Order: sequence, then structure tokens, then C-alpha cells
Amino acid sequence: CRVRRYRFDVVMKNTTRLCATKPIVTVNGKFPGPTLYAREGDNVIVNVTNMVKYNLTLHWHGVRQLRTGWADGPAYITQCPIQPGQSYLQNFTITGQRGTLWYHAHISWLRSTVHGAIVILPKHGVSYPFPKPHKEVVIVLAEWWKSDTEVIINEAIKSGLSPNVSDAHTINGHPGNTPDCNSKDRFKLKVKRGKTYMLRIANCALNEELFFKVAGHNLTVVEADAVYTKPFETNTLIITPGQTMNVLLTTNQKIARYLVKVSTFMNSGVAIDNNTATGMIEYKEEFGSYEFTTRPIPIMGTQPPPSNATSIARRMLDSLRSLNSAKFPALVPQSPVDQDLLFTIGLGINPCPTCPRKVRLVADINNVTFMMPTTALLQAHYFNISKVFSADFPRKPAVAFNYTETQQPSVNMVTTSGTRVYRLPYNSSVQLVYQDTGIVGPDNHPMHLHGYNFFVVGSGLGNFNPKTDPLNFNLVDPVERNTLAVPTGGWAAIRFRADNPGVWFMHCHLEVHTTWGLAMAFLVENGNGPQQSLLPPPKDYPKC
Ligand code: C2O
Repeated sequence: CRVRRYRFDVVMKNTTRLCATKPIVTVNGKFPGPTLYAREGDNVIVNVTNMVKYNLTLHWHGVRQLRTGWADGPAYITQCPIQPGQSYLQNFTITGQRGTLWYHAHISWLRSTVHGAIVILPKHGVSYPFPKPHKEVVIVLAEWWKSDTEVIINEAIKSGLSPNVSDAHTINGHPGNTPDCNSKDRFKLKVKRGKTYMLRIANCALNEELFFKVAGHNLTVVEADAVYTKPFETNTLIITPGQTMNVLLTTNQKIARYLVKVSTFMNSGVAIDNNTATGMIEYKEEFGSYEFTTRPIPIMGTQPPPSNATSIARRMLDSLRSLNSAKFPALVPQSPVDQDLLFTIGLGINPCPTCPRKVRLVADINNVTFMMPTTALLQAHYFNISKVFSADFPRKPAVAFNYTETQQPSVNMVTTSGTRVYRLPYNSSVQLVYQDTGIVGPDNHPMHLHGYNFFVVGSGLGNFNPKTDPLNFNLVDPVERNTLAVPTGGWAAIRFRADNPGVWFMHCHLEVHTTWGLAMAFLVENGNGPQQSLLPPPKDYPKC
């Protein structure tokens, strides 16, 4: 194990996309940001300097941060923002993880352009549980807005309505050709025939669950959220914001070029757009014979799945299993669990005297719309600062109703607001069922838990049935991840062991839903002795 030092200067950079140039917030002037490389067991030290006019924090999405919540990064949860002109040395160790993760700004909507991949290689001398690929390629999926995303979200908050959707999807920053800008700015991967490539794909989009397809090729999934899976083949991937996936692509096809397509699934209920991003895979040998001729280069296209292709998404998600080998066992908490939680997740409508329509869209968990505190929860917890949060987050909804009924709201659409956390004793085993509600309309929610991986032990459509559904839980080899797509109009159940003391944010990774309050935090208590306790904060920890 070694120490990896990185310098991340967050700076404005004039960037051209869709035939127009505008200044955007970037890491080291790059969009997407630079890839952070480490090996399992390494100590990573990133010197983050804020050189822009906005308050800033950086989050290492999916890195477990065992006992180092101080370096996790969500603003007002684990730290206060790094002020303009200030730096913060984020210091953490990668424990028990290898694969692809990513990092992003974790305040307001800055993550629209401030994000990049984290590649965690296995320890020296340890091989992958699949044949070594010829090459590894990082693929960052994201979105591009013609206007400034900070302006968009601030206007949306004022109006109480939905913000605009993006103007294009991007693959490694390239939108591909769009109807209004024929820039040829597209992702291209040159490959050799007869090899296996590992694509390390991260969905860094703000608000879009994405399908990913390569024409003429199947993809073999081998890892999700930096955990190995049982390999399985599919022609379409579904990846929610926050999720990452490693897939193998074997170059066994015949012609020169194959399109890569990224398209939207369900559009997150925000609005409908068709901003498909197109990239290309080019076979070097085949392309070579066309290079200096005027013959048309053969290209194989592919249709994106329809944006409501729930069955395609379900098929892929239901096929995901932990590898669960002797070396990489799935340590699923078995029944009975210590903490049995049911969280409804959905949208609501609250009064808003200053909004043009006198109401505003909100989101909630168990009818509680999360209010961002002004002192970081972790700081308040560690230094015993009172009145920042209350530890009374409800373990189930206050009123039971037909959660997935969409005809008429059967309960009040108005939510309560608060900064409430749920307290978990150290090492307790937790079962949490997310139940999507149809109060304002069924919606997609990729739920992300900081500081942990969890096992997805079950999911289904309609209302969760606490008597019968648990009988079908997979407690043997469920997929282990840090972000989970709760089915629209349905439920999903996760289990995890609360072995990482600290305060851990849990929220919908569609950024607009986090803005609206679809969030809460777990406060995991210290165990016995220093090895089971949160470490003290670093000296330069940004306090409030
Ligand atoms: Cu990827 Cu709370 O974030």
C-alpha cells in the first residue's frame, strides 16, 4: 500500500460544447475531471482548493470512508463548505474495495460539471476474478446544459417548479452530433479485433437514469459499484446517477464502425427529452482499409430502448448477483435483523406564499422533507452541538395508505420539514424497505447511502407486503452496491451492517430530488474502543 497524492484545483474554465463556449466550474480545468487512480489499501490524500466564487465540497462517491466521515464531503452533513480561496486536505484509505467509483461536488448543482472517475485497482499481485482485459477504458456519462446550472436550480427553487432538463447527454464530455450543432465532437474508441476491453462506466448525470448500448456487441457485466458480480451478458445496461459498472466488451465483429448509444430511462419524471448521445467504436484493422479511399465506411447503428422500457431495465437489474466466491463472500445480514425500517419515498406539494403558483414541489422520506442544516451534522454530533438535528426520524410512515395508488392522492400531499436523523447502534443489522409512493405520480428514485455498501435483497411492484415479500428475499448472493434504483410504483429492500460510525447522508441521486428534500441521515454510534469509533477530525476540517 502506498500514499497517493492528488491536487484538485477547482477552477472556472471556458469550455465549448454544442457549438457554444461558456465558463464552467471544473477540477483542474477538465470536463469531466481527471481520473483518480488508486489501489485497494492505498491512502489517498487530495488537496482540494476552491478557486471559484461558489462554496464547494467534494465527495468520493462509494468510497466507504471507514471511520473517516470527515473526508466524505456532502455539504452540511459531514463538513461545511470549503470557502472561496480555501483548501481542504481530504485524507482517506481505500479499504476492502476495488473497481470503479467516482467523485463529485456535493453542494447545490455544482456536480453537473465537477465530477470524474475513481479507478481502484486490486492490490499488487491480486488478479481480477475474470481474464485480464487487453485494455481498460473509463467512460463517464453526464449531461450538458447550455445555460448555467446554478442559475437553473436557483430559479427553479424560487418558482417551486421543475427545473429544465439538460440539452445533451455526454460520453467522456462529448455530446456527439445533436440536431442543433453538428460539431463531430463525439466519443470514439479505437479497438483491435479479437481482444477484450473492460469499460469502466460511471453515470455522473444530474437527473437522468441512462441506458447504454454498443451496436453489434453484447456486454458482460463483472462489477457494480466497485463490487464484483457474477458475470452476465446483456445488450443494454441501465445505470442510474451514482451507479458505476464494469463490463467486458469482446471485439469479435466484422465491420469498421459501431455506434455507442446513451439514452434516457423514464426521464426521472422531470420532463421528456430525447438527448441521446452517440459515440463510436472503430475497428483499427477494418477502418484501415477505408482510411485513404472515398468508399463509404460501413457503420452499424443501434436503436436506443424506448424511454419507458421498464422491462429491459428490470431484466438487467434482476440479473445482478454478487460474485459471492470464497475470496469475495457476500456477508448479507441474516434474519432476524435488529432494525426493521420502512421508508416511503416520493414527491409532495407544499404551500409557498412567495411562489407564482403559491405551491412548490417538495420530496420526502416518510413524509419528512429534509431541511439542510447550517452546521454540519457530523460536526454537531462529534462536538455535541445541540439544536442542529433531532434523532427522531420515523422508522415507518406515520399513516399507512395505498402507497402506489395514482388516481387520487389518498393522503395529504403536504409534507412536514425537519433535520431529523435515525440513530443506529454500532454493528446493528439493518433492513430497510424503500416504498415508492404515487402521491404526485410514481417516480424513479436512485437511492444512495453514504459510508456503506448494502445488499439489495428484494424488490417488486406495488405495495410492499411485510408478511409475504420477505419470504422471497435473496439472502445468499444479492447484489451489493451503494446506489439502488427503486422501481417506479414499487419497492426495494436492502440490508447492511452498521459498522461505520459517523453521520451518513442518504438521498435520491437525482439531484433535483435532493434539492427538494428527498434525503435523511443515519447517525451510527461508536462501538466499544477506538477501533470501533470515529476518528478525530483533521486540523483543517472546514467547520461552520
Ligand atoms: Cu454521489 Cu450524496 O452523493
